[in-house]
Amino acid sequence: MASLWGGRFEKDMDEVVKYYNASIFYDQRMYNEDINGSIAHVTMLAKQGIVSEAEKDQIVAGLESIRADIASGAIVFTVEDEDIHMGVESRLIQRIGDVGKKLHTARSRNDQCQLDTRLYVKKEIGEVLQCLYRLEGVILEKAEQYADKITVGFTHLQHAQPITIGFLFMAYFQMFKRDIQRLQDGLERMDYSPLGACALAGTTLPIDRHYTSQLLGFTAPCENAMDVVSDRDYILDFLSAAALSMMHLSRWAEELAWWNSTEFAYVAIDDSFCTGSSIMPQKKNPDMAELIRGKVGRVYGELMQLLTVMKGTPLSYNKDFQEDKESLYDAADTWKATVDIFAKMLLRSEFRMDQIEPQLQRGFLNATDVAEHFVVQGIPFREAHSIVGRMVKACEVKGLTRLEDLTDEDLQAIDSRVTRATLGDISIKACVENRTSFGGTAPSEVLRQIEAGKAWLAEAMQFQA
Ligand code: ARG
Repeated sequence: MASLWGGRFEKDMDEVVKYYNASIFYDQRMYNEDINGSIAHVTMLAKQGIVSEAEKDQIVAGLESIRADIASGAIVFTVEDEDIHMGVESRLIQRIGDVGKKLHTARSRNDQCQLDTRLYVKKEIGEVLQCLYRLEGVILEKAEQYADKITVGFTHLQHAQPITIGFLFMAYFQMFKRDIQRLQDGLERMDYSPLGACALAGTTLPIDRHYTSQLLGFTAPCENAMDVVSDRDYILDFLSAAALSMMHLSRWAEELAWWNSTEFAYVAIDDSFCTGSSIMPQKKNPDMAELIRGKVGRVYGELMQLLTVMKGTPLSYNKDFQEDKESLYDAADTWKATVDIFAKMLLRSEFRMDQIEPQLQRGFLNATDVAEHFVVQGIPFREAHSIVGRMVKACEVKGLTRLEDLTDEDLQAIDSRVTRATLGDISIKACVENRTSFGGTAPSEVLRQIEAGKAWLAEAMQFQA
């Protein structure tokens, strides 16, 4: 079958070239975007008097019948279709005859593939946002449930200070908040219509790009035709946002995996999110957490793949750019599935307070609080730090696990200004409740963060994707 572009060719493409060249096997997933773009385009051609109203109606009806047949599976694309744009256009011509040949007036596949991909990215941004909104909702719910429940806060994977579990949830809330903002910013930046840029330099025909932009729901047409057909920044923006967000998910997945370990047992992940072993009957493995941690690898790869494709490419369109799609599709699919599964897993994981409780007495979690109490009594912080450091050392020497177990005698030997009475209330509960500084871990402060988070989320969800 001769290609739609075959006029100047004497030979058909070699079979291996056909397959190597074709993008139809993957870009057919944008058939709706392609058809919507064509309908907007021909509607504009009719408004501008470039085709007649009757011709437009025939073309639109033909395109709608093709859409229905793709959806039902009646149309099965083959390598002869080359890409979704040719696949739809050649069938249009088969179905409605010569009128169909007018559709591609003042348009090129160079702007058409960009239109389809932008519409596709817009749709994906909308869908990922919905997933992230749901995740943030789950985080807020859990943060409320655990607002005053205490666990170990770590730095360097060492016991550091006691924190509320609600506080920890709200730390992740902030990460996903930035992911949402990044997507929303990205959408605003990319929301410009490529249609009518044509091959690279616009057209001599009297088209109205503002009209097609408006019909397709874009903010405005892109300013410069040559930039449009060469630009894949918006896909890279999306892939960067995906890579970053997947990184956030992998960090929490890692925490869940070790909290779920036998050594920690801080968290019980629901059976429905774990799997067993084919040989070891006792096993219950946190596979979903591990898989989430692993999936980030492919998304990083996809970002690097497209960055590398784009590097050093001259203006304007080059066939290299056809390699922009599979990474995009896979990253979007992986990101959405991962956020959804993570939110569900979180909802069905519970902290085991009985297991955490004894750990709160280990690792001198209240040491900084003692130093701060000394500060209130007029001891400069550096001295207070050193005194508490010596208290910790004395505990280790005497085999004590808690600073409150030191005697007045022990304390006086370290520094004449300190006694048991000067330590103040250093129960773990008091330490947490008193960390009321803005952004701190106190339950009262966590509740404020939750309220602010709820207000922010309600507002963010108003965004029109
Ligand atoms: N299938 C191509 C892509 O996705 C569109 C065709 C671009 N134009 C061309 N002259 N090869 O990039």
